[in-house]
Amino acid sequence: MPGAPDKLPALPSGHRLAYYRSIDSTNAEALRRAASGEGGPLWIWADRQTAGRGRRGRAWFSPPGNLYASLLLSTTTASRNLTEISILAGLAAFDAVAGFSALRDCQLALKWPNDLLVNGAKIAGLLIECEGSVRPQALAIGFGVNVNQHPDGVPQPVTDLSRHGVEVVPGEVLERLAGAFASWLETWERGSIDALHNAWVSRLSGLGETVTVRLADDTLTGRLLGVDGNGGLTLQQADGSVRVIMAGDVFLPSGGRDGAEREPNDASPF
Ligand code: BTN
Repeated sequence: MPGAPDKLPALPSGHRLAYYRSIDSTNAEALRRAASGEGGPLWIWADRQTAGRGRRGRAWFSPPGNLYASLLLSTTTASRNLTEISILAGLAAFDAVAGFSALRDCQLALKWPNDLLVNGAKIAGLLIECEGSVRPQALAIGFGVNVNQHPDGVPQPVTDLSRHGVEVVPGEVLERLAGAFASWLETWERGSIDALHNAWVSRLSGLGETVTVRLADDTLTGRLLGVDGNGGLTLQQADGSVRVIMAGDVFLPSGGRDGAEREPNDASPF
């Protein structure tokens, strides 16, 4: 592989790797490959992205030093629903990061829909996209993990692994991530989605707390009850009614151990 790092990550058996020094977006590359008939599981990994993308049309801060990787899964592997894949991916990201011993005294949590927080600050984000508009042919499961740096001046608390004493290269994080993904995939393939759902909800931040959820055209406040079987966030409002939210940004009352609650900003690079 031209320009590849000295040590390539060891991936689970059957998983292939495509490495790039620079690419527009590893998710975009996964979808291009899927459109031209390539199957998975294939990890696409880049040192940097020139057009990294985040949820809800945002850009993703992608300089060298962090992990940018997408797993291409064909529908034969990803034959179940997107919610289940999203749960599986969140658990894999959680385990990959939780395995670093320097983080043993930190509080790790998932934030709906699929951010990973360390002490309340975002350290990783996931973006799942489909190839095939009518009937998805393949999925691109994109992971962005802040390894050595994080963006400054963004409206949410953010952090990176080095800030917490974890000195690693992105390839090592990818190795752990791929291993954790394969292991959760195996559990999922044995049919125990309930176990995955319970594991995911037990790692969710803000459970039982009063949170603010920013929707495209509204802002809601209520008690975070959990996540339903379709991946919707359940929020109990002041009048007792329960709203199920499928897309939005959650703001927790603590807003991260290092900072106060902050407001969302769709122009944010993170
Ligand atoms: C989020 O908004 O939190 C999701 C961010 C996902 C970023 C990753 S980096 C690798 C992959 N390629 C992209 O363009 N985006 C995802």
